[in-house]
Amino acid sequence: MPEAEPVKPTIMVIFGGAGDLTWRKLVPAVYSLYLEGWIPEEFRVLGLDRQETSDQEFRQHLKDGVERFVKRSGPDVERWKEFADKLHFIQAEFSDAKAYRSLKKRIDDEMKSWDEQADCVFYLAVPPSVVPAVAKHLGQAGLTRDHDHTRVVVEKPFGRDRASARDLNQLLHEHLKEGQIYRIDHYLGKETVQNILAFRFGNALFEPIWDRRYIDHVQITVAERLGVGHRGSYYDNTGALRDMIQNHLMQILCLIAMEPPVSFRADEIRNRKVDVLRAVRPIPEHEVDRHAVRGQYGAGWIESEHVAAYRDEPDVRPDSNTPTFAALKLFVDNWRWQDVPFYLRTGKRLARRVSEIVIQFRPVPHQAFPADVASGWQPNSLWIQIQPNEGIRLRFQAKRIGLKMRLSPVDMRFSYDEAFEGRVPEAYETLLLDVMQGDATQFMRNDQIEVAWKIVMPVIHAWEADDAIEFPNYQAGTWGPQAAAGLIAQDGRSWYSPTPPAARPIRDENAQDE
Ligand code: BG6
Repeated sequence: MPEAEPVKPTIMVIFGGAGDLTWRKLVPAVYSLYLEGWIPEEFRVLGLDRQETSDQEFRQHLKDGVERFVKRSGPDVERWKEFADKLHFIQAEFSDAKAYRSLKKRIDDEMKSWDEQADCVFYLAVPPSVVPAVAKHLGQAGLTRDHDHTRVVVEKPFGRDRASARDLNQLLHEHLKEGQIYRIDHYLGKETVQNILAFRFGNALFEPIWDRRYIDHVQITVAERLGVGHRGSYYDNTGALRDMIQNHLMQILCLIAMEPPVSFRADEIRNRKVDVLRAVRPIPEHEVDRHAVRGQYGAGWIESEHVAAYRDEPDVRPDSNTPTFAALKLFVDNWRWQDVPFYLRTGKRLARRVSEIVIQFRPVPHQAFPADVASGWQPNSLWIQIQPNEGIRLRFQAKRIGLKMRLSPVDMRFSYDEAFEGRVPEAYETLLLDVMQGDATQFMRNDQIEVAWKIVMPVIHAWEADDAIEFPNYQAGTWGPQAAAGLIAQDGRSWYSPTPPAARPIRDENAQDE
């Protein structure tokens, strides 16, 4: 049952209603919210798309998505029937002004039958090139005029560089107030990402040592085992920097580096995050090689299965220069973080799917133990495990069992699975509920998006100006190109080997060979 009141009567219009996102993520998320009691009786999903589809076909297709993607025992026949009655399909061209006028009439009629003032959520699950037209038509048809009761959700990628993001923001602002725009980054809906705030600001223990005096450096790894699959044409024009670093990894960086907020109000949190991005030291274009490494996967083996090289994937150019791996070294120029490097890396077709953050603390100021006692010594580190094995580990030294004094690193662990009962909600459930309740805390504001682009632009420019003759430069199923080890090794450090599933991590000086 919900921990709060159900959302207000709502009509959710999904542009791209016949698309993959609606089928795979959006409707399964709304259905889960419905099962948990968040969705009121007065609720409609209007899926809008170009193709001709009846309500019945639409519902059948969505039922299939729910069966596949809702992680609970399939749709209960009765509950699904009740829910399915709320789903409707509208066939329309996104560029047809008349369709928006009919949509307005349909929404007005629907709302008239309800006693309460309803909210309207317009979800733009459409390719980025279509977003401006939909926003313009929504505005012109008067569908977004009620600033308090209409919201528009925009999927990533938001623009493809700083200039196009700024143009898109300007265009959206012609028809919408900033408070109506929900730019989604699904990483912010993940439980473990939200837990970074809880961990940092709900505890007094770590905040006093959360700065340059005690922290040596931070590593953020988002590794994927999957390749580009059927998204070749999107990905080949996007690449790892635009697809992952500019948004997901930057948001994680913000949560790790931000100052304590005064309150948990949306704009307070977003102000603290944007402060971090503004403080990131610009990477000079002529020094990109010292701060960034790119990679592209060649063929390889993953779990005994041979997988194709990126350039052999469907819809990918055979001479593609698109990076499927990117690593970056960033500094945050402020009092707290001066000269503490933040190493970020992400890639497709890596050895395992794992997202985690390692905070490495500085070594003890004086090593009093003789060398043989402290041979296995490691500085303290804190591991925030986003996925899988969701949890947190703190590594410290302990005396080994035995008659002699010998030190060994050991871990103190918190595991979501062990600590809490219940189902972990999907990121889209959390974020859709936030949109319906008008809480924009976990969404990106216009200035955040633009400054995040500003940080990566020198790297994008340098990489696009200069073809990577070394591509492909890592084998599928490894931890990325050798140069990524070099990026961190030039500072006398090494990547931590991501936590093996349900096993103890060991410091791996040569993670690339794993
Ligand atoms: C998406 C990217 O935003 O995030 C994908 O476009 C990527 O390329 C995905 O695979 C990763 O998300 P998750 O939740 O599986 O880590």
